[in-house]
Parts: sequence; C-alpha cells; structure tokens
Amino acid sequence: MFLEVSQLQVLYPGNAKPAVQDVSFGLRAGDIGVLIGPSGCGKTTLLRAVAGLERASSGSIRLDAELVSSATVQLPAERRRVGMVFQDYALFPHLDVGHNVGFGIHHLPHAQRKERVAEVLELVGLAGLQRRYAHELSGGQQQRVALARALAPSPRLLLLDEPFSNLDVDLRERLAHEVRGILKAAGATALFVTHDQLEAFAIGDVIGVMHEGRLHQWDDAYTLYHRPATRFVADFIGHGVFTPATIREVGNQVVVQTALGELNDVAECPLPCAYPSGQCDVLLRADDIVHDDDAPVKAEILRKAFRGSEFLYTLRLRSGETVLAHVPSHHDHRIGEWIGIRAQVDHVVTFDRVCPVDGREMCQLPCRARGDGARLGNAPALPAVQQPVTLS
Ligand SMILES: Nc1ncnc2c1ncn2[C@@H]1O[C@H](COP(=O)(O)OP(=O)(O)O)[C@@H](O)[C@H]1O
Ligand SMILES: [Mg+2]
Repeated sequence: MFLEVSQLQVLYPGNAKPAVQDVSFGLRAGDIGVLIGPSGCGKTTLLRAVAGLERASSGSIRLDAELVSSATVQLPAERRRVGMVFQDYALFPHLDVGHNVGFGIHHLPHAQRKERVAEVLELVGLAGLQRRYAHELSGGQQQRVALARALAPSPRLLLLDEPFSNLDVDLRERLAHEVRGILKAAGATALFVTHDQLEAFAIGDVIGVMHEGRLHQWDDAYTLYHRPATRFVADFIGHGVFTPATIREVGNQVVVQTALGELNDVAECPLPCAYPSGQCDVLLRADDIVHDDDAPVKAEILRKAFRGSEFLYTLRLRSGETVLAHVPSHHDHRIGEWIGIRAQVDHVVTFDRVCPVDGREMCQLPCRARGDGARLGNAPALPAVQQPVTLS
C-alpha cells in the first residue's frame, strides 16, 4: 500500500476523547480514497495527521513504506511531499493565477516553472488563464486553480478537505467527476474528505465511513451500500430501515422471517445460531421493497417524496413497522392509501438487535457468507440518494 495508516490515534491536548481512534486503512498508489462522515467525526484531523500537521499519539502512518508518523516519529509536513487543497480555496488575492499556481515551485528555474504552470493549468482545464486574478474567476474555477497549485510540485499524495463545500450542489457533483478525471490523468494518489455521499461515490475508488473518530468501513461504494459493516454505515449510506427478523433453518434452507413475510433463497445469510434464538434485525433498503398490487402484504403510505423517475414512499405495515420503497413515479398513490408490497432481497444484511435497555446502537459486524456465494452480478445499481434517513 502506498499510504498505510495503522491503528492511528490522534488526541488533542486537553480533550478527553481522541479525535481519531484506532483507524487503519491502506491506499494503493494511483487510487483515490474518500473519507465520509458527519461533521466532527474526525475527517480533518485524520487528513492533517497524514499531512504532518497533527501528531499521532499512537499507531503509525507510512508513506511509500517510509514511517512518517508514530508516537515517537514525526516527519515535518514540508518533508512529506504531500499537497493539500482546503475548503476555502485560499488563493492569494494579490497574485495572478500563474503566480498562485507557481507558488510551491519557486525552486525551479523560471522557464521550467512557467512550463509546469502551463501544464497543470491545462490539466485542470484552465489553459491560458495565467494573468487572471481570483476575483475574475468563478468559484469552480478558483477551486481548480487551487487544485493546479497543489499538483504543481508533483506531490506524492494529494489531500483534499471538502474542497467543494462552498460551491453550489449542482456544480459539486460535476466538479467531483472532473476532479476525478484530473487526478487520474495526473496519476495522483489522493485522499479526499467530504460529507456528501454523491460526491464520495463520484470521486472515490475506495470510501471510508467515519463516526466519532472511528473508521467503520473502508470499501468500494457498492460494498458499503450492499454490505454495510455496521448499523452506522447502513444508516449513513442510502435509504433503508432495520426491521426485526427471526432466522430459522428449515431442512437445508435458511429462512428469514420478517413482518413482510419470509425471505427465502437469500445468499450470505447467517445461520440462526449467530443470534440469540435466531433473532436479529435485517436491513431493508428502499430498493429491496417492490410495489406489487397482487402481494398479500399491504402497507399504508405515510409519506412520499418525488424523485423524478420514482417516488420514495414511507410505508407502515399492519404490524406497525415502517419500511421505505422506491416505486416508479407512474404509480402515483395517495398518502393514506394501502398498497401491496413484497420484499425482494437477494442477500441479507443482519445486525444484533439494538439493546432494548438503553437503545444504544451496537457496533456489530454482520455475519458473513455461509459459503453459497454473493450474487454481485444481478444486484440493483446504486440509487440516487441524497440524505441519510433516521432509522428507528
Ligand atoms: N485543534 C483542535 N483542538 C481540539 N479539538 C479539536 C481540534 N480540531 C478538532 N477538534 C475536535 O476533534 C473532533 C474531530 O474534528 P474534525 O477532525 O474537525 O472533524 P470533521 O472534519 O470530521 O468535521 C471534534 O470533536 C473537534 O471538536
Ligand atoms: Mg472537517
């Protein structure tokens, strides 16, 4: 791995709890890693530790096999050859674009510097704008100048901390795709921080979900969505609910009993013995629930949100449980109407029941495959998700 973070802990002086706790992951050369999580979960702290701007209280960071951070080692930031792009583009207002971009390569002879500036400006799609000043550029252009400035010294790792958060939502997703193209063209290895899922999906080869200083999962977007490792990840990525279920073994088959009926023929289902009396919670994604007029199970529409090609319906079963469903938008039912639904789940994601005493989320890895294999090929594509829902 090009960047290797191992059991990293960062504790700010005076704080009782570490801002980054026991974080381990690896990033291959040329890959783009994304850290996502709610505000205050430790993303910036982790990035700053990699940059050499915060110290590791324990654990280690290796860059290209070189130990750069540990409890006893702290390679200064300027010797790490790491570039950073921040949320506020922080271009020097008194310098033009050419001088802003050339800022980190003063050591190069003038002609070579000029050439490199032209090269990176072309890379970010701003060829020939050397003479412009920041106030003559749009927000998106300024951020691309900031990216060019960070790329100019050819850092071995580029760190980007919510670089688009000051930009319009429309622009952000487009820029995320563009920046991915730019980083790939530059052959850069990058670690990108965001709190926006669409941005994370658009830019990342691999995505880490953080919560309260810990890294819950480090995986590709598909796996995060379909095989979330913790309740937090299941909640944060995509739309879904947890619903009580009982796992039973019937003959040679494992059957998962839910308020929506039995889920049969499911891959990756744990055995009943994985949970007390086989009782667990099952994650039901909005795309696991299919609207079907002929289905015996009926549910009442509580809420509906128009999403263009589909509605996101919030439904209540007779038993009182709530589920979400993506339904094609030509099925325009009224709130209060009862519609038929069935679960179409091809792999089951289970969790321990939430502690009934204090209701606290338990950070439990889902049970892994029984050996009958994942069915990655026919799973639905990632839906367009905007806001994580609060799960009950
Ligand atoms: N310089 C600092 N001194 C003390 N505590 C800090 C400092 N910077 C951040 N923190 C705390 O560390 C935690 C993680 O913050 P941060 O890394 O900025 O999160 P994020 O970037 O995910 O929003 C928060 O609880 C924050 O209050
Ligand atoms: Mg931050």
